[in-house]
Amino acid sequence: MIDFSEEQRMIRKVAREFAEKELLPGVIERDKHARYPKTEINKMHDMGFMGMTVDPAYGGGGMDTLSYVIAMEEISKVDASCAVAMSVNNSLVCWGLQKYGTDEQKEKFLRPLASGKKLGAFCLSEPEAGSDASHQHTIAEEKEDHYLLSGTKNWITNGKNADIYLIMAQTHPEKGSHGINVFIVEADTDGLTTGEKEDKMGIRASDTCSVMLDQVVVPKENRIGEDGFGFAFAMKTLEGGRIGIAAQALGIASGAYERALKYAQEREAFGVPIYKHQDVSFKLADMATELEASRLLVYHAAMDKDAGRSYTVSGSMAKLYAAEAAMKITTEAVQIHGGYGYVREYHVERMMRDAKITQIYEGTSEIQKIVISRSILK
Ligand code: CAA
Ligand code: FAD
Repeated sequence: MIDFSEEQRMIRKVAREFAEKELLPGVIERDKHARYPKTEINKMHDMGFMGMTVDPAYGGGGMDTLSYVIAMEEISKVDASCAVAMSVNNSLVCWGLQKYGTDEQKEKFLRPLASGKKLGAFCLSEPEAGSDASHQHTIAEEKEDHYLLSGTKNWITNGKNADIYLIMAQTHPEKGSHGINVFIVEADTDGLTTGEKEDKMGIRASDTCSVMLDQVVVPKENRIGEDGFGFAFAMKTLEGGRIGIAAQALGIASGAYERALKYAQEREAFGVPIYKHQDVSFKLADMATELEASRLLVYHAAMDKDAGRSYTVSGSMAKLYAAEAAMKITTEAVQIHGGYGYVREYHVERMMRDAKITQIYEGTSEIQKIVISRSILK
């Protein structure tokens, strides 16, 4: 299908072995108790999974997007909670800093995120600004040599464990989306606090919480880009982030499909392995086809990005399709497992719960349709 390079094949092998050896053993317990995978994330830092596309000059892996997507797929196959921490750090925080940060910002913040076990968070959403992301209520008041940030950010992945937050806030409300700025804020800054960890349906081990800002002083040198660049920064960064989440959806679906395929050959009913019942084999055929279509869209979007082509639409298409397919494939995987699919031990019920979030975050499926339709109708 795609002629992967020797390096890309090696990345898949290493990521798969890592996921099976280091993530699989505790994944059910971490999900059950919503326990944050601190040790596992640290190991992912050690393996170089947290700053894969960052320039080696700043301690990163210097890899292409396709390699990153391959690793995301393999990690997500086993543990989607670890995968979302990886996705946010790589494609939202590191990428945004690398692309738009100054040399000083990169040296101070990007290097530790890529190679120093620091974790990043991307703070765009608010209690009343999710899909309608430009409707920011968080205010960044401009002072002589600093900004004063106040407001609440919602649903922040890596919220409690992040060392570095990228925070979008409104400086010039009269300018609408063009008045928004983006700031680098360190976790130990006075006035920054976090809420309770959310008790979620899926990706339960991942760390999601609110981030509260009360008159947080942010030096001017921590603003990224020109005054008013914050919304464009968020949109540009999310274009790539969506490819990462599409890869997460692909990985979750792929993990569920592989388990269903195996189970259908082992489980017997009416004297034959259940795959010999046509309805089960047809389910597997549909799952395999949708998986293949997801894979092609995800790799295609990654290759667009690597080739310097626009990936706004291909990224949104990949995320839309892969997320919808992940929900269908994981639901069918539970069905093929029958009652066993409904209990934790067989993994597929977790995958079905985990798949749901891929239709919601980094732009809901409906928002992807807005991005795609605007482009084809303009
Ligand atoms: N690049 C650069 N600029 C862009 C842009 C892009 N991709 N998209 C929009 N802009 C600019 C526009 O050009 C426009 O500027 P002009 O007025 O000069 O033309 C300005 O931004 C406003 O754009 P729109 O009018 O298109 O904005 P909108 O209010 O209609 O919203 C939207 C568009 C696509 C719906 C956007 O709000 C959106 O993407 N919403 C979803 C938010 C989202 O994905 N959040 C994810 C949070 S992070 C997360 O979820 C992480 C995680 O879970 C792990
Ligand atoms: P709303 O925007 O209120 O949407 C509600 C429903 O209305 C959805 O079905 C939506 O598709 C639909 N809708 C809204 N507008 C339209 C429209 N114009 N046309 C058609 N349908 C529409 N955000 C961050 O900034 N950083 C993070 O790290 C982060 N991590 C997250 C982790 C988790 C586990 C979760 C649950 C969310 C996370 N988010 C994060 C927030 C996430 O991006 C938002 O939840 C998402 O963008 C949707 O926003 P909302 O929840 O406010 O829903």
